[in-house]
Amino acid sequence: MYKRILQTAEWLKAKMTTKPETAIILGSGLGELAKEIEDSLVIPYSEIPNFPVSTVEGHAGCMIFGKLGGKDILAMEGRIHYYEGYDMKEVTFPIRVMHELGIKTLFVSNAAGGTNPGYSVGDLMVITDQINFMPENPLRGANIPQGPRFPDMGHAYDPELIELANSIARENNIKVHHGVYLATQGPTYETPAEYRMFAHWGADAVGMSTVPEVIVARHCGIRCFGMSIITDLGGHAQVMKVTHEDVQKAAAKAQPRMATIMREMIKRS
Ligand code: HPA
Repeated sequence: MYKRILQTAEWLKAKMTTKPETAIILGSGLGELAKEIEDSLVIPYSEIPNFPVSTVEGHAGCMIFGKLGGKDILAMEGRIHYYEGYDMKEVTFPIRVMHELGIKTLFVSNAAGGTNPGYSVGDLMVITDQINFMPENPLRGANIPQGPRFPDMGHAYDPELIELANSIARENNIKVHHGVYLATQGPTYETPAEYRMFAHWGADAVGMSTVPEVIVARHCGIRCFGMSIITDLGGHAQVMKVTHEDVQKAAAKAQPRMATIMREMIKRS
């Protein structure tokens, strides 16, 4: 496994003309940000040795090296999800490679269902903590020498980056919630009973990504920042029907606000 990570990193290093320390995963809601990346070198996942390729509609797959907010960055347009059938090692493979390339800070975004009764569709949530409700921990198995066997998860999401996001949101008059993101394996959205259960557990939003990537990033010592777009609501008196199209529509609408915060954070961090 580790050998494959190194092999992929070496292949990418031979193509790279910059040395970014910041990476961003352009999940649902941040796709548009890819268009702002300047002087970019775009490499489709399908060309990268050992790289898993996303199959989901709306999740194009490529790595982009370029400048955003004046900073060298590495962007992943489209991510790999567990529900597609990949195992956890494949889902988190890109994070391991990022670490070998010298990435120190990771920005992630996602679409999520709001379980907090105070949330509305289109709201933004700064992720302050997470619950791993996926069937597996990506660190299961032989420890990869990028980090400790039993990593601390006390600050999975970096407190300084959360503070920076708060300042930027205030300056730009953007309302953000702060909450706990819980990841399920998907691909089903939740039943009303499941939404209620997750709310009782302390989750404010539910989605199908991010948690494995953040676990592996923390294992590698990469600091993380994450934001969710609340694209639907669950667990409330009224049952709301959720479709992938609704999720994408709500994410697209919230995209400019999320992009403003992320762009400015990358510039200043
Ligand atoms: N549940 C799980 N994943 C999601 C949801 C949801 O309600 N909305 C967007 N992604």
